[in-house]
Amino acid sequence: MVEINSSLCTGCGICKENCAVHAIVLNEDGTCRCNKTWCFGCGQCVAVCPTGATAMPGLEAPVEFDPASFELDPRVLLNAMRFRRSIRRFSGEKASRKELEMLLDAGRCAPTSSNSQSVGFTVLDREFETLRPKIWKAFARMAQENGRKLLYRRYENYLAGPGQPDTLFYGGNQMIAVTSEVRPDGGLALANMELMAHALGLGALYCGFAARAIEGDPELREYFGITEKRSLDGCLVVGHTGLKFYRTAPRNPARAAWQ
Ligand SMILES: Cc1cc2nc3c(=O)[nH]c(=O)nc-3n(C[C@H](O)[C@H](O)[C@H](O)COP(=O)(O)O)c2cc1C
Ligand code: SF4
Ligand code: SF4
Repeated sequence: MVEINSSLCTGCGICKENCAVHAIVLNEDGTCRCNKTWCFGCGQCVAVCPTGATAMPGLEAPVEFDPASFELDPRVLLNAMRFRRSIRRFSGEKASRKELEMLLDAGRCAPTSSNSQSVGFTVLDREFETLRPKIWKAFARMAQENGRKLLYRRYENYLAGPGQPDTLFYGGNQMIAVTSEVRPDGGLALANMELMAHALGLGALYCGFAARAIEGDPELREYFGITEKRSLDGCLVVGHTGLKFYRTAPRNPARAAWQ
């Protein structure tokens, strides 16, 4: 999957030293080649080669590093992480297709165990209104089975009709369900996506209730592609919000052991 252009390779050896699985080997003429048996496709040899001799044909073209558009001010990054919030008041205005694609890009860039890249995304948009009552119903069944009366009351309120608070989706009408074959890969993708939603000025909500309801319902499991091998790592409700925050929310100090 990795090709090395020998006319561009200077034999500097950086890719060879950096490869986690020693998949780069030396040719007799001092240039390098990739041993496909060992390569797990992480792409680091493409990213690290000073002359651009390495390539992974069939995948997207790499973006060349440019400090102006790649470097982040750590304080700004931390502030963005502090200021992102769970949104429980969606306006009903949907995220655009382009914004949803940015969220998927953020998700697929997250690291994955052994570069498995097994994370799957179901963008529930067009079919959201068909699924909304089904997820609510599964949520109600889950609440009932677990004797969670207050949670079940949420369902009764939802059934009471328009004007009642929607305490599952909070007025949202788009949701991205994230599955993976290796935990915690989907969770890492979700964290990227939530931060991207914040950067796009969108609201986002990890909806654990929807995720658990889906996990417990055979029909919904099938709809979202959950199998014995593939688990549901989370659901992110996204969309516009009119809600404004004026400051960060207080948090506990880091529960850290310095040893
Ligand atoms: C995995 C996960 C599942 C969550 N599920 C729900 C949910 O079903 N409903 C909800 O209102 N909030 C849900 N939340 C939001 C948390 O309550 C929220 O993150 C927490 O109170 C901190 O607030 P903040 O996100 O604004 O910092 C969930 C958060 C996480 C991380
Ligand atoms: S980093 Fe690039 S130039 Fe250096 S050995 Fe590897 S392929 Fe050749
Ligand atoms: S893609 Fe990763 S594993 Fe494969 S040769 Fe390059 S650095 Fe090594």
